[in-house]
Amino acid sequence: MEIFQKPCSIISHAKLNETVHDIWVYSPKIALSAKPGQFVNILVPGHFLRRPISICETLGETLRLVFEERGEGTKALGKLMPGDELDILGPLGENGFSTDKYSSAILVGGGIGTPPLKFCKNKLAKSATVLGFRTDKQVILAGEFFNVQVCTDDGSRGHHGNIGKPLEKFLKTGAYEVIMACGPKPMLKTVVNLAEKYNIPVEVSLEERMACGAGACLGCACKMKTVDRQSESNFGSIGSTAIVSYPRVCKDGPVFDGKAAVFC
Ligand SMILES: Cc1cc2nc3c(=O)[nH]c(=O)nc-3n(C[C@H](O)[C@H](O)[C@H](O)COP(=O)(O)OP(=O)(O)OC[C@H]3O[C@@H](n4cnc5c(N)ncnc54)[C@H](O)[C@@H]3O)c2cc1C
Ligand code: FES
Repeated sequence: MEIFQKPCSIISHAKLNETVHDIWVYSPKIALSAKPGQFVNILVPGHFLRRPISICETLGETLRLVFEERGEGTKALGKLMPGDELDILGPLGENGFSTDKYSSAILVGGGIGTPPLKFCKNKLAKSATVLGFRTDKQVILAGEFFNVQVCTDDGSRGHHGNIGKPLEKFLKTGAYEVIMACGPKPMLKTVVNLAEKYNIPVEVSLEERMACGAGACLGCACKMKTVDRQSESNFGSIGSTAIVSYPRVCKDGPVFDGKAAVFC
């Protein structure tokens, strides 16, 4: 997988709410090779460490980034205007969502975990979407998905409560092959529990603090469990052993089998 580092021009900059920015940048090489779930690492002037932001979608030679102001870096990015240049490294992450393997999926997004799912929706023949936010004011991108159920913690929009019940409603139809999810860990845990209950594959995009963003520093390692089939002998099963590994979110992910993820 080729990674490009390019100064790219910002084409447009809009705000989706008080703190969430929506920018399109002209970056032919990254846009034409990016896959759903991958991200870019952005150099913020005056800061040593780049900031990872998911690719929300691509259109021809342009790519869309939707990000929330959290700290100094994202606040500085939020001040950039059309015509300004961004130093972007990408597309990063060797494993994105498997939109080339499945044609239908339930997409589950929580808060600022919603943007990368738009890229999935564009690639799938059929999708249903469940999006969870704290309040109506935080809702973003809901109008850009098919068959969407919005949930808010305070009931100010859509379903009052978390994504569990609406997700279960879609699961009961049996009409989808996989769940693809991105959002906070407690939400991902709920999604994985329901995927286990309904025996459906689940892919989750994980977020860890990153330093190098390129697989070198191990700063973003996350815990995964796998079943060691080798421990089954020729004389019959002696029981399988759960083994633990620590893949790097930046290089080996950011998307993983949800049933292997350890959410702690
Ligand atoms: C794979 C991936 C994709 C992401 N996609 C998006 C997205 O599409 N939209 C969006 O709004 N946010 C996204 N994030 C989170 C985003 O990277 C952080 O909010 C951002 O780096 C915070 O930087 P800051 O300077 O504003 O905050 P500060 O807290 O000042 O950052 C200090 C340092 O911590 C790192 N850091 C802080 N919070 C995070 C975090 N949650 N994840 C990773 N590194 C962090 C920063 O990169 C920086 O190096 C993503 C994170 C990852 C790992
Ligand atoms: S951030 Fe350095 S290995 Fe992932």
